[in-house]
Amino acid sequence: MNRRIDKSVLTGRTVDEITGGRRMRRNRRFDWTRRLVRENTLSVDDLIWPIFLIPGENRSEDIKAMPGVERVTPDLAAKKAEQAAELGIPAIATFPNIDIALRDDTGSNVLAPDNLINEATRAIKKAVPEIGVITDVALDPFTSHGHDGILRDGVIVNDETVAQLAAAAVLQAEAGADIIAPSDMMDGRIGAIRDALNEAGFSDVGIMSYATKYASGFYGPYREAIGTQDLLKGDKRSYYIDPANSDEAVRDAALDVEEGADMLMVKPGLPYLDIVWRLKETFGMPTFAYQVSGEYSMIKAAAQNGWLDGERAMMESLLALKRAGCDGILTYFALEAAKLLRQP
Ligand code: PBG
Repeated sequence: MNRRIDKSVLTGRTVDEITGGRRMRRNRRFDWTRRLVRENTLSVDDLIWPIFLIPGENRSEDIKAMPGVERVTPDLAAKKAEQAAELGIPAIATFPNIDIALRDDTGSNVLAPDNLINEATRAIKKAVPEIGVITDVALDPFTSHGHDGILRDGVIVNDETVAQLAAAAVLQAEAGADIIAPSDMMDGRIGAIRDALNEAGFSDVGIMSYATKYASGFYGPYREAIGTQDLLKGDKRSYYIDPANSDEAVRDAALDVEEGADMLMVKPGLPYLDIVWRLKETFGMPTFAYQVSGEYSMIKAAAQNGWLDGERAMMESLLALKRAGCDGILTYFALEAAKLLRQP
């Protein structure tokens, strides 16, 4: 134990002299010591499951870039919600892939009370009233150019987009959404949506702000999932946050808190753990991360190739988000992780 270390390279002190007798490995010796000192845990209560929608009935489609994830019609989305509820997953989040013919410059279909996202909310709430439904309120699934806002002369116009999003949020609340999640990054949208919801009698409907959404390359597979990969012209850098910035993210989140957000979200997840940490420390608000499509697909693809243990990497990535300060995580792994967590 106390043997001298080779004097030719070291000073001649024993390890106990170096550490003062403190040995971190004592607590790591056994499974039971590791469990006793464990600081963070992942539970089913931390999971939100994003689901992709297509119109029609009893139909599902694979998404090539997201192995194991499918798009489903509203009736099958209700079935998925049932499955999630049975496993104890608290909430799902829905994302529509609407008919190309319905997409236009202004994303007008977002204002159709019975559009795909609202139809799905009704079907889900009817089948499983106890599960939380979180609806995204950006325009990108509805526009012919794949941008989150209204495009005029090459510019995503802020204020006009905000008015439209607020109206859409009211329709989503009418359909039964419990939480509205604006993912568009327009200025002032949280306050405008809060006002509109209150005015329409939905003061109980919450807002989960995509407070710090980064102009990220990790959204690639999602664009295939909602059918915008061939539509999107240019990029979203004029409204999403620059990946180089973190003070800016805190300032942006502060505005959302002031405007009335109930919950904050960081997106993507794993590359932005520092932002999760800063927001949680600064605001003490319920804080979420969106483990986005690219993060999911990287793990899946590597696992399919036998390059890493997929289950282990999945659980580690989710736990890392918890450790950074997340209260919950939107993840395409939700069902798979819940099944693992429910195993005795
Ligand atoms: C846009 C939106 C995006 C995602 C959800 N809503 C980003 C984008 O397409 O630019 C990404 C989700 C993912 O990658 O899993 N409002």
